[in-house]
Amino acid sequence: MSKLIRRYSDGERLNHWALAIFFFLAGLSGLAFFHPSLFFFSHLFGGGAWARILHPFLGVLMVLSFLGLFFRLWKDNLFDERDREWRRNAGRMLRGDKAGMPPVGKYNAGQKTVFWLMVLSLLVLLVTGFMFWRPWFAPYFTIGVMRVAVLLHSIAAVVLVLTVIVHIYAAIWVKGTVRAMTRGTVSEAWARQNHPLWHREVTQGK
Ligand code: HEM
Repeated sequence: MSKLIRRYSDGERLNHWALAIFFFLAGLSGLAFFHPSLFFFSHLFGGGAWARILHPFLGVLMVLSFLGLFFRLWKDNLFDERDREWRRNAGRMLRGDKAGMPPVGKYNAGQKTVFWLMVLSLLVLLVTGFMFWRPWFAPYFTIGVMRVAVLLHSIAAVVLVLTVIVHIYAAIWVKGTVRAMTRGTVSEAWARQNHPLWHREVTQGK
């Protein structure tokens, strides 16, 4: 077993799992209203009325917990010129040829894209959600505006759910990644293979 390297602090991991829990709670209570065939999800929350009351609060808690991670990690997710090269080669990587990939820092361009899709969809969910949150905020908006808000809210929810599916799939697909969020550490071999520039930075301080 190669040496272990710290990738996330305890605080970052707690923050991430709080976010994941609120995502599933907000998502399941929201799906209950997405289509009648999904209304059974409301039973998880004590019935339709309770799901309706709790959903916006769960959504706000999800956004607040994302903010915690956002302020810790946004700088590491800024795109740079190396990402263009990575994106051009992404097809080869998906076919299993990792060796041809350009060297990557803490996050690759795929992870960065997932990060900014989460930012965008959560922002749209938050703003539009307030616009039809009865009884407090909805009276400030006309019915026409609220209808557009509901549509954008649903589209942003679909984008976020698909993005999280890709996020979880990628975390499982790249062996040795999940432990970064369960233990806080990764093996040196994982770091060298998947994030060589980050590996050099943490081991040699460059
Ligand atoms: C069971 C579900 C989940 C699993 C197994 C999981 C797994 C992981 C893992 C392993 C990492 C570390 C990746 C790395 O350091 O290379 C990570 C990072 C992260 N996860 Fe999750 N995650 C889950 C759910 C979520 C959800 C629901 C969200 C957001 C709605 C989320 C947002 C993030 C963010 C923002 C990062 C930091 C990556 C970055 O800054 O680019 N995760 N996750």
